[in-house]
Amino acid sequence: MSPSPRSSDASAKPARELWGTRWGFVMAAVGSAVGLGNMWRFSYIAAEGGGAAFLFMYIIMIALLGIPLMLCELTVGRKTQLSPIGALRGLGGRAWVPLGMLFVLTGFLILSYYSVIAGWTLRFAAESITVGFPENPGAHFGEISAGLSAVVWHLAFMALTIGIVMVGVQKGIERAALILMPSLVLIVLGLAIWAAFLDGAGEGYAFYLLPDMGQLMDPTVIRQATAQAFFSLSLGMGAMLTFASYLSKDTDLNQEAVTISFADFGVAFLAGLVVFPVVFALGLQGDVSASTVGALFISLPGAFADMGGIGRLVGFLFFLALSVGAVTSAISLLEVVTSSIIDETGMGRRNAAIGMGILIALFGLLSAFNTDVLGLVDAIAGDLFLVIGALAMSIFVGWAMKADPVEELRRGAGKRFYSLIPFVVVLIRFVLPPVIAVILFFALQDTWGAITGFFAG
Ligand code: PHE
Repeated sequence: MSPSPRSSDASAKPARELWGTRWGFVMAAVGSAVGLGNMWRFSYIAAEGGGAAFLFMYIIMIALLGIPLMLCELTVGRKTQLSPIGALRGLGGRAWVPLGMLFVLTGFLILSYYSVIAGWTLRFAAESITVGFPENPGAHFGEISAGLSAVVWHLAFMALTIGIVMVGVQKGIERAALILMPSLVLIVLGLAIWAAFLDGAGEGYAFYLLPDMGQLMDPTVIRQATAQAFFSLSLGMGAMLTFASYLSKDTDLNQEAVTISFADFGVAFLAGLVVFPVVFALGLQGDVSASTVGALFISLPGAFADMGGIGRLVGFLFFLALSVGAVTSAISLLEVVTSSIIDETGMGRRNAAIGMGILIALFGLLSAFNTDVLGLVDAIAGDLFLVIGALAMSIFVGWAMKADPVEELRRGAGKRFYSLIPFVVVLIRFVLPPVIAVILFFALQDTWGAITGFFAG
């Protein structure tokens, strides 16, 4: 047996891989959070929810529910150093295994359609160089969004994701995130500055930033803001839990949770500062608030086409940033599934990543051939399962796990957070479960509506 301290474990199991640096973990977690959710999902859901009214609820939900939930996932991952199924079994017993399985299923389902959308994104980035943006974006989207060409880009994107996850935590995931995330932020920042100079930007800002009080109390807006907060922060399906399982036990989780959440919100907010001025400058608001999954892929290419040469450059950068965000998020989705297979069956990383990646890619063909299926799987996994997962996770950490949450969160905590922790645990115990339960009630209705709508054609 090897003399290295980490592998001197009595069992023959190889030591768990850890992140190379703290910054590497933060970038990978931010990479998981920042993705299509920040631009594609955020902008159309924000438009549907009345822009600023949605934004306002969204900020509240991140602070009230998002950060405490992220802490729940991070603690469980760091403590057990296991992927979701094993982690929940270890701290809660067999009864919690199904929740771990739900996490894996959710990761599987989300990645299956996420990859199709990422495929559209890659295609727009590539075509902005080769042929430019389409004159008739609606018709063009109809042609490329479903069918054989969507399949090809979907498979290409899955291959890229598998390629990174296969290589491992440090050499694959961490290295990719360290390069890709800072570039993404720079691109989106540059685009937001550019958009500020468009004619009509003011109107876009007004829609985005001035709340219409009437919509604030709309249960659908509240439900959507919550589900979007979970989706965007990668919560409710074990991604943060899995990433935290590669952390050493003395990391300050509180600091990390705040950093990750701020970074994620920051990029979504910046993306809004790009999308809304562009959309209003070209009078395309109808397209966006028509709020189909295609909104961003119809209105923005149309806008870029109208802008001639500069549009090609700006459009390229936009879709490049989007693709980058998509890759680092997809990595985390596949990692949840892969690490569970590794931990539960003892299979090697390479085989687990390739095998599960192929299954997900195959299931994703359904979404690649039909955007209605894509919307349906998103309504089920993205809007409903994440809320169920979040509710169960808050109950687990607040009430069920065999460890004291205050003590766990205090481990490694800096001075700034130490005294706040009992308050956070009160939130986790008494505020999260009832609030998320109410939201689940609305989510069930909305998802049921999406399912019946789908079958009614
Ligand atoms: N947070 C990612 C995004 O905004 C999507 C995601 C959801 C990733 C859940 C992992 C887990 O695009």
